[in-house]
Amino acid sequence: MQTLAGKKILLGISGGIAAYKCAELTRRLIERGAQVQVVMTHAAKEFITPLTMQAVSGRPVSDSLLDPAAEASMGHIELAKWADLVLLAPATADLIARMSAGMGNDLLTTLVLATDAPIAVSPAMNQQMYLNIATQENIATLARRGMSIWGPAAGEQACGDVGPGRMLEPMQLVSHCEAFFADKPLEGKSVVITAGPTREAIDPVRYISNHSSGKMGFALAEAAQKLGAQVTLIAGPVSLTTPQGVERINVDSAQNMHAKAMEQAAKHNVFIGCAAVADYRPEVIAEQKIKKTDDSDQMSITMVKNPDIIASVASMKEARPFTVGFAAETQDVEHYARTKLAKKNLDMICANDVSVEGQGFNSNDNAITVYWKEGKQSLTLASKQQIAQQIMASIAEKLEA
Ligand code: C5P
Repeated sequence: MQTLAGKKILLGISGGIAAYKCAELTRRLIERGAQVQVVMTHAAKEFITPLTMQAVSGRPVSDSLLDPAAEASMGHIELAKWADLVLLAPATADLIARMSAGMGNDLLTTLVLATDAPIAVSPAMNQQMYLNIATQENIATLARRGMSIWGPAAGEQACGDVGPGRMLEPMQLVSHCEAFFADKPLEGKSVVITAGPTREAIDPVRYISNHSSGKMGFALAEAAQKLGAQVTLIAGPVSLTTPQGVERINVDSAQNMHAKAMEQAAKHNVFIGCAAVADYRPEVIAEQKIKKTDDSDQMSITMVKNPDIIASVASMKEARPFTVGFAAETQDVEHYARTKLAKKNLDMICANDVSVEGQGFNSNDNAITVYWKEGKQSLTLASKQQIAQQIMASIAEKLEA
């Protein structure tokens, strides 16, 4: 999707080892429709060549303030005016310090002073340098001046240290750019989403669960956040990273999820039930591990019904949020989805045919039809991120109507 169509991004690269990731970053930005003009400091050219950056961006790299030929074509003031966004990645401790001091001793820092475009800084350096009080104060100064600070991530560093200071991965920076330019139809709204499976304990070591990966719910949380919403994610046990800016509440059983959902629902404008909630749970959870017996080849567990979380939310008498459910069906999808929409008193239901391979449970892609009382919308097979963006856009439209 051309999520950055026509956007002019001035990518300022300073001299850190993460500069090698800038070729990939540039490609991914251009793939989404952005125009990328690269500006490099002298040190940056020691880590990645201007020729590489020219080849991937399709534009000559700017690197000198005092180059008469460059000034005669797109001079530094024109460059500063051209940008819709200035992205400094990697931003070294030195670049951050020079910016904090308001210096203009090379092309990049001069552009930072001369532009009225928004500026995003993606710090990348050794963890000790990052944690140094001088760097921390400089970053705080830039943030106070209204610059966005994207990252850093923590982890293993090129120098062998482990800690904060890794530049965000190219795709994470692309996501930040997309969020930055996206329309924000959910600004001022809040959304709570249940995601993943639930775990119903049998005894202290065993449980009953299902194969839900939580990917769809997490993608919805990310999409809602990008559209400007304040997002709370009530997540069953899944191994997924919480999307940036999203508040996460971890739960295990359906009863636990129900309690948290009821606590959160009235505080939010939209409730999305994306979790694969276990319909039944063992009536009793054995206090001790259940032992094998020699006298029978069978054992049985009595199950009792779990509360229907989304139906409880949809029947709230006060502060009822706009309620959106999911339906995984294997046949007669529209009929079953519409029956569920009515029976659970939902405002919208997202149905998918899980009998089709490659969509739904545990896969990365999905195809969904969204139904509401008066209409429907088909979303053809795409990544769960893309489907999530379309579902959230559709919810935003309904809220406005
Ligand atoms: O009835 P069924 O499980 O097919 O309905 C699916 C929808 O209901 C999903 O939105 C799911 O999150 C929600 N649900 C729930 N609590 C349950 C069972 C399902 O919120 N106990």
